[in-house]
Amino acid sequence: MDQTLVNLYQTSEFAEWAWMRQLEEPERKVLGKYLLAGADRHMAILDVGTGGGRFLEELAMRGFDHLFGIDISASLLAAAGKRLSVYPVGVKLEQMDMRALTYPSESLDCVLALQQVVCGIDDPAGRRQALAECFRVLKPGGIFLCSVLDYSRRPLNLLVSLISWPFKLLKGEFRYMSYQYLPLLKLGGCWNWQYPCRRQPYAYWYRRSEILRDLRAAGFVIHETLAAERPGRHRFGLYLACGKATGGKTR
Ligand SMILES: C[S@@+](CC[C@H](N)C(=O)[O-])C[C@H]1O[C@@H](n2cnc3c(N)ncnc32)[C@H](O)[C@@H]1O
Repeated sequence: MDQTLVNLYQTSEFAEWAWMRQLEEPERKVLGKYLLAGADRHMAILDVGTGGGRFLEELAMRGFDHLFGIDISASLLAAAGKRLSVYPVGVKLEQMDMRALTYPSESLDCVLALQQVVCGIDDPAGRRQALAECFRVLKPGGIFLCSVLDYSRRPLNLLVSLISWPFKLLKGEFRYMSYQYLPLLKLGGCWNWQYPCRRQPYAYWYRRSEILRDLRAAGFVIHETLAAERPGRHRFGLYLACGKATGGKTR
């Protein structure tokens, strides 16, 4: 597990993700269309990087009763557990890295990996491994809903990248020299003034062609890509609804 990322989600980013409740417009859309509409309430659903469990709560409220959540942060899992304890369905929460899921192959009907879960993994092979794991645990015919940061949707990227280069050099963060690794400009809702002097995790901003290629390479069929239509907190996200074809091979 990446300890700097674990620390980040246990400290400055904790409150934001632990207590967030509402679902943003694109999240509602993608969940509504691919999961909530008429789905069997007994299907097995895994929320990867569940944070404070807001997606699991939405599902529990709607009567889904076979829910699992994993996260690398024990504190966020504890917050999720507290929130979900009021629902009669037992939600199984476990500390786990999405690059090495312990679920059996083809055991889940739906996997969610929403918000910067995949983008927080700092090496390309790790990100591909994470997608491959989601594919492996999904049953044929299952649904994978994920989102990534979309490089093409933020006009300031090149500027931020150019400004951060000297700091990357000074801090010896050579593996993050690609302009798609961008510093987290805000932490816990406040400007991240510590970036220049302190080593911190980066977020990886995907090009669309790249995430589509990686998802297909993992074995997924892409049903739809969605982006936020209105400005909002998650306006830089690209949401992807994918499936595992029946007869799709587990890698
Ligand atoms: C931006 S938060 C999103 C939380 C939640 N999905 C939501 O939208 O409310 C990202 C979450 O992913 C978790 N995470 C990051 N890398 C992970 C990994 N490799 N495996 C499992 N969880 C991870 C973090 O601890 C954090 O809770």
